[in-house]
Amino acid sequence: MNFDLPVIAPSILAADFTKLGEQINECTHAGIKWIHCDIMDGHFVPNISYGPVIVQSVRRTAPEAFIDVHLMIENPDLFIEDFADAGADLITVHYEACPHLHRTIQNIRLHGCMTGVAINPATPVELLRPILSDVDLALIMSVNPGFGGQSFIKSSIAKLQQLAELRSLLGTHFLIQIDGGVDPENIQHLAQERTDVFVAGSSVFKANNIGKRIHELTQKARVGAGKIV
Ligand code: DX5
Ligand code: ZN
Repeated sequence: MNFDLPVIAPSILAADFTKLGEQINECTHAGIKWIHCDIMDGHFVPNISYGPVIVQSVRRTAPEAFIDVHLMIENPDLFIEDFADAGADLITVHYEACPHLHRTIQNIRLHGCMTGVAINPATPVELLRPILSDVDLALIMSVNPGFGGQSFIKSSIAKLQQLAELRSLLGTHFLIQIDGGVDPENIQHLAQERTDVFVAGSSVFKANNIGKRIHELTQKARVGAGKIV
């Protein structure tokens, strides 16, 4: 994995599924190398999205892309193999859904995928400390998981700062991802907090021009991160 950070990861949850292939192609033509897939089970979150079949379609449409599967489901261990087989490069599970988190993370790695852990808005960052050396990515949810199109929860900024501080303190190298309500208005500011991966659903797929919006988000994230002035 060799990315020019920070990266924009469109969440296909907000895509028009009657033209999913077309819209994914618009993303990759605009330089997208990372795609975010939101899996919801109607139990851990109050919504149902899609399963491994769609992830497999994304993999076929964008064979070169890095596919990040965000599992908002109970008992994620039951489905890790299915998503790994469908083509996931990285699988993220929720801290709140995993009583045996370390084992679940090991299980993801055993299936050949990179590993991620997510926390909900009301879960403190400090709880992640024991697992941070074992994951490739930590995800701060900036909306309550379950739906696209919600407003960014402002207290998530302090959580990004705490996570970045913990990363320096522990000397670990996991990526920091933010998910929920990311848009052209807030992305530059968020990028100043050493955020590496910005998930963006509605702000990408509900835009009049997907490619233009991706360029705008990428540019603003890079300015915020100090990569360009
Ligand atoms: C929320 C999902 C997000 C969501 C982001 O449960 O994890 O990935 O699709 O969508 P927007 O960018 O519309 O908030
Ligand atoms: Zn997500």
